[in-house]
Amino acid sequence: MSQYALEVKSLSHSFGNYRVLDNIQLQVYPGQIVAVVGPSGCGKSTLLKAILGTNPPTSGEILTDGIPVRSPNRNVGIVYQNYSLYDFLNAEQNVSFGLKLDETSFLMRLFAIRKYLSLRKSHLSKSRDFLKQVGLESACGKYPHEMSGGMKQRVAVAQAFIMRPKIVLLDEPFGALDEAMREDLQLMLLRFYQENLLAKQEGRRPEYTILMVTHELNEAIYVADRVIGLSRFHTQGDQGAAIVYDKPCPIFSPEDPRDFSKFSEQRDELRKAVFDEEYIKDRNKYVTFWSELSELANRVAEPR
Ligand SMILES: Nc1ncnc2c1ncn2[C@@H]1O[C@H](COP(=O)(O)OP(=O)(O)O)[C@@H](O)[C@H]1O
Ligand SMILES: [Mg+2]
Repeated sequence: MSQYALEVKSLSHSFGNYRVLDNIQLQVYPGQIVAVVGPSGCGKSTLLKAILGTNPPTSGEILTDGIPVRSPNRNVGIVYQNYSLYDFLNAEQNVSFGLKLDETSFLMRLFAIRKYLSLRKSHLSKSRDFLKQVGLESACGKYPHEMSGGMKQRVAVAQAFIMRPKIVLLDEPFGALDEAMREDLQLMLLRFYQENLLAKQEGRRPEYTILMVTHELNEAIYVADRVIGLSRFHTQGDQGAAIVYDKPCPIFSPEDPRDFSKFSEQRDELRKAVFDEEYIKDRNKYVTFWSELSELANRVAEPR
């Protein structure tokens, strides 16, 4: 097992002659919730598609838990903004659908019906567990047309996590939701993070490793433990967007007040470093996650 849930090594991507991403390096620990922000068109979705395995990069390598990604696979899950569930399946069946595809077959249904039924039973029971995790235990039998947008996004999240992926990618997952629902789903992510912390304390592998694209800077800092900014506004910007910002950010628990004023300085810095076209800087100026991490570790190690 690798110490990283995700490793992106020297990834670059071009569409024809247009270079979108330049030499992206990224390592994510299991249990991290990493937010990705950047100007529209800078290549966020391109990066996610490369990690998902549907659109391999022009050059570079991607590993999940140490294993190279060559095509879509169980190690990486994704939730889109308008994820359409299967209309003809209820919540429970929607969530277990991936397991059904992956672990049962038509032939098994014909020739090993007992095995099939017993697997089905265990899939549906797992599905109910995951629906509970996302706060939908009472909606297992509901069909998509009976659910609100927020409920459907929760089902999509459960659908991704039931496959026990090493990392789940969220591409503007709450963009289509109204404010109250958006806040509810943010709280769900904060709860996931608390479960990760508990798992680490107990020596278990944390379940929820997330890379989330969002255009809301407050949301990024509020739900994530680390923020990454992707942008072309750096001295070699003609070669493509790079990670120009990578820093830890404050951790909120679901009980904390939603007080965004606490991190207004970091938000301003992020806006300037990633979104300001006039401000062209060395691409490494705000990439300090790893040095800050070792400083934190040293501080803990110092005798009191
Ligand atoms: N299939 C494609 N063919 C050509 N250009 C593309 C393709 N997909 C994306 N692009 C271009 O690559 C750039 C990055 O796109 P994208 O990753 O979708 O940006 P973001 O998600 O950050 O808004 C944009 O300029 C877009 O027009
Ligand atoms: Mg996009």
